[in-house]
Amino acid sequence: MASASRGQWSGKMGFILAASGSAIGLGNIWRFPYTAGENGGGAFVLLYLMFVVLIGIPLVLAELSVGRKTELNPVGAIEKLSPGSKWPWLGRLGVLTGFGILAFYSVIAGWTLWYLWAALSGKFAGEITPEISAQMFGSMTSDPLLAIMLMAVFLVLTIVVVQGGVSAGIERTTKILMPLLLVILIVLAVRSVTLPGGMEGVAYLFTPDFSKINFSVMMSALGQALFSLSLGMGAMITYGSYFPKDENLPQAGIIVAFFDTGIAVLAGLIIFPALFAVGIEPNGGPGLVFVVLPTIFNGLPAGGFFAVAFYALLAIAALTSTISLLEVVVAYFVDEKKWDRKKASWILGGSCFVIAVPSALASGGSPFFTNFMGLGIDFLSLQNVLWGNYSLSIGAVMLCIFVGWTWGVPKAIESLEASGHKFPASGLWSILIKYVCPIAIAIVLGYIIWTGQYF
Ligand code: PHE
Repeated sequence: MASASRGQWSGKMGFILAASGSAIGLGNIWRFPYTAGENGGGAFVLLYLMFVVLIGIPLVLAELSVGRKTELNPVGAIEKLSPGSKWPWLGRLGVLTGFGILAFYSVIAGWTLWYLWAALSGKFAGEITPEISAQMFGSMTSDPLLAIMLMAVFLVLTIVVVQGGVSAGIERTTKILMPLLLVILIVLAVRSVTLPGGMEGVAYLFTPDFSKINFSVMMSALGQALFSLSLGMGAMITYGSYFPKDENLPQAGIIVAFFDTGIAVLAGLIIFPALFAVGIEPNGGPGLVFVVLPTIFNGLPAGGFFAVAFYALLAIAALTSTISLLEVVVAYFVDEKKWDRKKASWILGGSCFVIAVPSALASGGSPFFTNFMGLGIDFLSLQNVLWGNYSLSIGAVMLCIFVGWTWGVPKAIESLEASGHKFPASGLWSILIKYVCPIAIAIVLGYIIWTGQYF
């Protein structure tokens, strides 16, 4: 069996922690609030939650079933299940997407390091107005060298963990820190919701204005559901491949999905009340979270301490996600190309640095990348939409077809039930994965492509 040499989670709990580590990250705390703000709030949130249940959870299980059955990286896994076919290209698209996401994600992750440093040096101790906060953010992102260095440091951290191997590196990092992050988020949410005017933010988040729903909002919500759950590129295939044979897989997968979604909603409950309380516009783009948060630490008892703890945990949450992104790429080169894990980690992480530079320069560092080719969108946001929404949706729709029709639902269920634990919702899951998910994704994606409204 391949598992002994490839490593394995120490048990179901180890998997839940590691997979939550992949799922929970900047997607929940940075991407969810700013995308919700750009797409009108409640209507987006409702669609997002719907997509998590109808598409996200079924896909988590589909990816995990492939990974567990084959104990391989996405390309090798699909090849094993469908030898001689063109399907392994789906795995290759996933590896490429992991690379593409890592190349902009590490830039944002670098920003969290700067905020951690700022918190440590007491910058958030006094009162911070939205203007001061926006200025702090702008002066960091528009310093080209600083932005590149922060991104580079973050990539090195990622490489160091990934080269150490899966269970040793990833699990240990997540075990203590995930629960801590949850506690800090709850404290901040309570603080934010009780700010004068805070309830307006809660209403914004949970009162859907149905007139705001259109295909572009649907696309964003779908992309967000996939991105947040690390779906559509094989991260869950890879993580499922280390899942112990005797544990209940569907249950573990569903727990991860709920945990991830809960953290996103919690992040929304921090950002939106605070934003309404201090008078910041919800559609502030990728800087939204970074600008809003510093304004709330001051009013909090021991605010300086909370600021440090929050940014430290945010950086770690981002790290457990970048680890999974790089792990997909590295696992492919280790399994398929027989590269040494250490060599693969440094070469692939190093190449990622090169393609991340334009994204690091896209928030003021270089006018060309800030308004990319005059398209009215910065290079980083463009990467975010291309890889995060489109590439993941294409991967997801193909994966549904592969699992639902080519490999086949009976075999997938067999893999989900390999531990002997019955999966009670297997009938419902079959219908979702064969019909509902692929059709829904294809309609949204098809409409956007057909009408040319990419971003
Ligand atoms: N899910 C991660 C987050 O929300 C990002 C990610 C996407 C990680 C795809 C792996 C694969 O931050």
